[in-house]
Amino acid sequence: MTEHHHDAGGTDAGTAAQLWDERYRSRPRVWSGRPNPQLVAEASGLQPGSALDLGCGEGADALWLATQGWTVTALDVSAVALERAAAHAREVGQDGNIEWVQQDLATWVPDRQYDLVSAQFLHSTLLPWQQGLRLAAAAVRTGGTLLIVGHHPDGLPSWGNHHSHEQYFTAEEVAQELRIEAPEWRRDVLDIRVRSATGPDGEAAELTDAVLRATRIAR
Ligand SMILES: C[S@@+](CC[C@H](N)C(=O)[O-])C[C@H]1O[C@@H](n2cnc3c(N)ncnc32)[C@H](O)[C@@H]1O
Repeated sequence: MTEHHHDAGGTDAGTAAQLWDERYRSRPRVWSGRPNPQLVAEASGLQPGSALDLGCGEGADALWLATQGWTVTALDVSAVALERAAAHAREVGQDGNIEWVQQDLATWVPDRQYDLVSAQFLHSTLLPWQQGLRLAAAAVRTGGTLLIVGHHPDGLPSWGNHHSHEQYFTAEEVAQELRIEAPEWRRDVLDIRVRSATGPDGEAAELTDAVLRATRIAR
């Protein structure tokens, strides 16, 4: 699921669910099927507990977390993506550890808190990142971890539709917008990471990730 990050085409017609369902239906598989590298790097050292994956897409991150011992809630607006993700999890015997939730973050309100909340490339023309990521922060329990990864605005993929720059953020912008600061939060990682990736047509590329990891100290 990591490398083939196209973002939804920039039309305001229809709902987020329609837009993303259409996007997922356009290919039998949209993402790579591998967990995102910054998730693996940042979550490998954590004690497994409950995890929420916001915008889980085809489920590679949720599946990876489940295999690491996490109990996962994986949320996405696209029923097409979720069906694909759930089928894959069943195939590899991990469906018992993952709950798939179809919700639109424009209206969803978290009703519980998690030890880890991960939002990986939650970029959409129909959802301001500030709105989605604020929900992510709100869902972290005291002592828990917030992990936000996105395309850095200065290192966007050359493929797909990555032209609306307001969809992208730096780790500093996220920290400022969400008030990830003392005494409520400890900032563990604010980083820019360049990595090699492969585009949808096999082209080699370098992508730049914005990475924020923080621990909630208090509410
Ligand atoms: C760029 S993809 C990233 C998917 C996955 N996290 C990954 O890293 O491969 C963004 C995901 O967010 C989901 N999404 C977009 N808008 C959403 C919304 N309003 N509510 C919930 N999910 C949304 C899309 O369906 C899509 O699966």
